[in-house]
Amino acid sequence: MSRILVTGGLGYIGSHTVVELMQQGHNVVIVDNLSNSTIEVLEGIEAITNTKPCFENLDCNDYVGMERLFNSYPDIDAVIHFAASKAVGESVEKPLLYYRNNIGSLVVLLELMNAHGVHNIVFSSSCTVYGQPDEKHLPVDENAPIQKALSPYGNTKQVNEQILRDTAHANKSLNVVLLRYFNPIGAHPTALIGELPNGIPNNLLPYVTQTAAGVRNELKIFGDDYNTPDGSCIRDYIYVVDLAKAHVKALQRMLHGECDEQVEVYNLGTGHGVSVFEIVNTFKEVTGVNLPYVVVGRREGDIEQVWADATKANAKLNWKADTPLADVLKSAWEWEKKLRNIAE
Ligand code: NAD
Ligand code: UD1
Repeated sequence: MSRILVTGGLGYIGSHTVVELMQQGHNVVIVDNLSNSTIEVLEGIEAITNTKPCFENLDCNDYVGMERLFNSYPDIDAVIHFAASKAVGESVEKPLLYYRNNIGSLVVLLELMNAHGVHNIVFSSSCTVYGQPDEKHLPVDENAPIQKALSPYGNTKQVNEQILRDTAHANKSLNVVLLRYFNPIGAHPTALIGELPNGIPNNLLPYVTQTAAGVRNELKIFGDDYNTPDGSCIRDYIYVVDLAKAHVKALQRMLHGECDEQVEVYNLGTGHGVSVFEIVNTFKEVTGVNLPYVVVGRREGDIEQVWADATKANAKLNWKADTPLADVLKSAWEWEKKLRNIAE
């Protein structure tokens, strides 16, 4: 049985991935400094899997602490590195925090992996590396050009990818999988874990569910004058559980020595673009809940439309994000109700 180090494993995507890993029989050790999560997530994972995973409250930037961890778990076969700061707006305000946290932690991790003979890493990247692809690159595949980052956060993902490529170039025994996520949404079907946004949500789905729960007065739709069929922006919303399962597939491919390239890149999305209005209407349909909204001006820096060509992940990982949007939105609502103690 393999041992997987999951950094940021109490976060939104990390916690769902830990559950899938454990359910597939992997031993997990979670490192998280709780900067954007809570210890209760560990209880949620335990309630779903009937097992308490090993957990270390540690900052990935803490070289000494991380070295102690690698010494305590000499059986680590692979790392999935989720730990990062991820708020785009905050990264513009506090770029150094983002460069330290997102770049420093990867460097520490790679140094220690090298010193301890750990040869496999799966990294959380983002479709943000593509910026707004031109028409001939939509849907966007892994060969589309990388565009200049629009924020320090986006830049950390590009730099991280480059650090991983450079390290793999220098160390031929290192295997890297870069997973470029599109827009993860929804919560575990048990409603025992889900997204925990900090303060006023920036992302669409938590804003939708909080508005439906009465925490926010109305959803602001950022623009209906885009060059899209209904005028609102288009994204590729992927169910977080489908996304988590892709990590297990990528990991197994690595551990079984099946990778074609030392650094493999995968777009993780559904392959379908969905507009903001479609999200709002489907949410109302499946939950029957009122969702007041108002159309306002465009949000600065927003991309008009982007969705994934996920053919490569479908073929090589033998994986597909196929949970229907209605079920995904329902799971997000069930989680919000649980958080707010809203009865049926
Ligand atoms: P999240 O904030 O819910 O999870 C990140 C976790 O890492 C948190 O639990 C946080 O406490 C922890 N963490 C942060 N810095 C740490 C450090 N230095 N040491 C230890 N723990 C630390 O975020 P998420 O949505 O689960 O995202 C996970 C990863 O996926 C991130 O790298 C993010 O950039 C990337 N990503 C997320 C999205 C998205 O929409 N959620 C999209 C693309 C990429
Ligand atoms: C954001 C990040 C991106 C990150 C991605 C996934 C920015 C500029 N980009 O992108 O780097 O990779 O999340 O985490 O923050 N919307 C509304 N009203 C709202 C919120 C959103 O209409 O209150 C619209 C947006 O205009 C957009 C869509 O909903 O069209 C999705 O927005 P969001 O969830 O913030 O994700 P992204 O913009 O794709």
